[in-house]
Amino acid sequence: MISVRNVGYTYMRGTPFEKTALKNISFDVADGEVVAIAGHTGSGKSTLIQLMAGLIDLQSGAIEIDGLSVADGAIRRKVGIVFQYPEHQLFEETVGDDIAFSPRNFGLSDEEISARVTEAMRQVGLDAALKSSSPFELSGGQRRRVAIAGILAFKPKYLILDEPTAGLDPPAKENLLRNLFDKPRATIILVSHNMDDIARLADRVIVLAQGENIFTGTPRQLFARQEILRRAGLEPPPVMKLLHALGIDAVALTADEAEKIIARNHLPHPLNQPITRPPKDGRSPELDA
Ligand SMILES: Nc1ncnc2c1ncn2[C@@H]1O[C@H](COP(=O)(O)OP(=O)(O)OP(=O)(O)O)[C@@H](O)[C@H]1O
Ligand SMILES: [Mg+2]
Repeated sequence: MISVRNVGYTYMRGTPFEKTALKNISFDVADGEVVAIAGHTGSGKSTLIQLMAGLIDLQSGAIEIDGLSVADGAIRRKVGIVFQYPEHQLFEETVGDDIAFSPRNFGLSDEEISARVTEAMRQVGLDAALKSSSPFELSGGQRRRVAIAGILAFKPKYLILDEPTAGLDPPAKENLLRNLFDKPRATIILVSHNMDDIARLADRVIVLAQGENIFTGTPRQLFARQEILRRAGLEPPPVMKLLHALGIDAVALTADEAEKIIARNHLPHPLNQPITRPPKDGRSPELDA
């Protein structure tokens, strides 16, 4: 379990550039949970997860992981963190060496390391033949997977993901999410702006706005609180926008659920409505696509 208690953080304290990034944040993450951290840019998400991974020092409050303070080096074996653009952190000569870096640091046997590298490559959907390639010969999406495999290879109990799919195309994104979230999996802390991903993947959501925790609850509870989304500068997921557009005051997390709600409200199915297109006179090309 992770416990975050009254955590605050200010950058460049005591200088004219002082910037408070977090104020009095408290929450728990139970084993096996997927907890999303959502919030507008600059709301403090990355600061919070860096504190949770022990990458920056606590200033006030406490964070414990399985009863150990994050200041204790022993948590490094328990917590894997994948940064927003992890592909920039590859530095070994081959993909295999890069993925093996952490397990090697933790003193595992060569045999065990090799098995873990193979398993991690499979988990992120990387072809085993790429093991001896240079990471620098790979595409951006492949490099991202190498970086994530490098974290999975040491089998952290807790996995912290900062926008893991940013910049990936939709099939690559789906593939990666399936591999990361399918069970058995770690306890996951997922930083995301994407409410659709949060709706699908998270058990609970913590919403930050200007460094404050303005909401903690399930995605379903969050999407019923439009004022919270508005205050946090977050967009509701597309299924919710559809329900609102149809004047239905209900919460749906998936398209299937929205469809049932629409049918129950005896509204004509939106897909059966005639689509009126603007005339192709060149005045609104973006609508003709
Ligand atoms: N190294 C730093 N020095 C000074 N201020 C910083 C530093 N890192 C972050 N900040 C400030 O702290 C606040 C929170 O930043 P943080 O990176 O945690 O936000 P975020 O929610 O992760 O944003 P994004 O969605 O853009 O990644 C912002 O106002 C930011 O400008
Ligand atoms: Mg960030």
